Amino acid sequence: MSAVKTEDSADRLSEVNGEDLMYKEKGKNGRPEDLSELLAAGTKEVHEQAENTEFVKDFLHGRIRKELFKLGAVALYFTYSAMEEEIERNKDHPQFASLYFPSELHRCEALARDLQYFYGEDWQSQVSCSPATQHYVERIREIGHKDPVLLVAHAYTRYMGDLSGGQVLKKVAQRALKLPSTGEGVFFYHFDNIHSNNEFKRLYRSRINELELDASTKHRLVQEAVRAFQFNIEVFKELEEMGKTIQEDILDSGPIHGHMQGDISK
Ligand code: HEM
Repeated sequence: MSAVKTEDSADRLSEVNGEDLMYKEKGKNGRPEDLSELLAAGTKEVHEQAENTEFVKDFLHGRIRKELFKLGAVALYFTYSAMEEEIERNKDHPQFASLYFPSELHRCEALARDLQYFYGEDWQSQVSCSPATQHYVERIREIGHKDPVLLVAHAYTRYMGDLSGGQVLKKVAQRALKLPSTGEGVFFYHFDNIHSNNEFKRLYRSRINELELDASTKHRLVQEAVRAFQFNIEVFKELEEMGKTIQEDILDSGPIHGHMQGDISK
């Protein structure tokens, strides 16, 4: 486990929108052959696809209903449970160990607290793993057992993404869903043990670059990261479909609630 202390001056995520940040962070310091640069370049296109899914676009604009947000948190819970269990299993693996930051990064506990806030004490009996999430989870389990170096790609895709956009998404969700400013419901987006997201991202990238990997493994990692993004896109699409059903439920509930369609404040 590594303790990371950084200044928080670089952590201005909440003050600017995603696009501004994109430009601010570009052209960081890497060499094109660094794995962190290969991952960033290799996932650029699929990152744009993820950003352009209806679910994500709606979310960014504050068009998110609480039921759907809750289902998104459930999907994340099952995803991170699997990923962090496989990371624990492989924490001493020479091609992963230096990326093992449980107290800084791991999200499972934060998600459990969010789900408890949304669903109550017996939240575990109320949530289940959706088909698209199950598909993602199965891949994580498979590589955790058979090809653990590929966990690097999954950890990169989720944690670097969370550290990049988390503060913006947290603010959007708090405002749209009228969540308490004390953080309940959005603990997932807050990394208690990271003082500066940007500093931590720099450290994580340097750890990625220091891994001893041959060219073919680096190539497989970029492919796996693309795959990880695709799993996320499938989950977003599934949530989008579920959103349509939720909307129908609201419409079905009769004329009194008819005007509530699209209301995100419940
Ligand atoms: C990085 C925005 C969705 C994964 C970033 C960065 C921004 C950003 C501004 C920093 C870019 C940089 O460091 O050069 C957004 C926005 C999104 C979104 C606005 C949606 C509205 C996603 C999703 C994922 C993801 C859905 C994956 C599940 C990542 C990763 C990075 C990243 C892995 C690190 C790139 C790197 O520096 O290597 N994102 N993102 N993002 N994002 Fe996203």
